[in-house]
Amino acid sequence: MQTLAIASRKGGSGKTTTAVHIAGLADADGGCVIVDADPQGSASAWYELREAERPYVVAAPQNGIRGVTETAHAEGFAWSIIDLPPHNEASISEAMRLADLVLIPVRPSLFDLRAAESTISMARTLKKPAIAVITGAPPGMTGGEASIVKEARGYLASLPVDVCKATIGQRAAFSHALLSGSSAGEYEPEGKAARECVILWRELKERMK
Ligand SMILES: Nc1ncnc2c1ncn2[C@@H]1O[C@H](COP(=O)(O)OP(=O)(O)OP(=O)(O)O)[C@@H](O)[C@H]1O
Ligand SMILES: [Mg+2]
Repeated sequence: MQTLAIASRKGGSGKTTTAVHIAGLADADGGCVIVDADPQGSASAWYELREAERPYVVAAPQNGIRGVTETAHAEGFAWSIIDLPPHNEASISEAMRLADLVLIPVRPSLFDLRAAESTISMARTLKKPAIAVITGAPPGMTGGEASIVKEARGYLASLPVDVCKATIGQRAAFSHALLSGSSAGEYEPEGKAARECVILWRELKERMK
């Protein structure tokens, strides 16, 4: 089993949004459990609204992430995705130690970029491969990437940290899907949000090979 820890010490960066919208794709690729390691229980709240049973969301007790991932591994799931709280250093550290890859969602703003540095340095200290993904990206004027997204890429590359080619746009579909307990792919299969998740998951999967 491969484990993806979604970590960012900045609240509201898009950790839970990213987790729940890619988990269905991972589930179709061999089975996936979302490990909800955030006492706020955001992923679990989404799961409560959800009609479908999969992808499973399992709440992890504090200091108990390992127990959940070990069970998922024993039960034959190909992936676990750990959704983390922003401020609990012990949980973030435990999840990073268990992870094959650390995904750091970052909004393209100065404060978020600055906050990403401490998450990146934590992964580096633990010698874990990390990759940032730009979330909440505004649309570009001419169909390409917005200049703020390009600037954010440059900033992240200078830290340095790898940055996903995929970006997650600021899209109402992500929020609407959450409120109906669905994923972007289920909510609007042909939509841009769904497509972004497919591209991101493909890239992450490639990294964890
Ligand atoms: N790409 C997006 N497009 C539109 N809305 C988004 C997007 N990403 C996140 N949001 C909204 O922003 C808010 C914060 O997102 P989310 O809960 O995923 O962040 P988080 O990093 O998990 O926050 P926390 O640190 O509190 O756990 C939510 O209301 C979510 O619906
Ligand atoms: Mg969250």
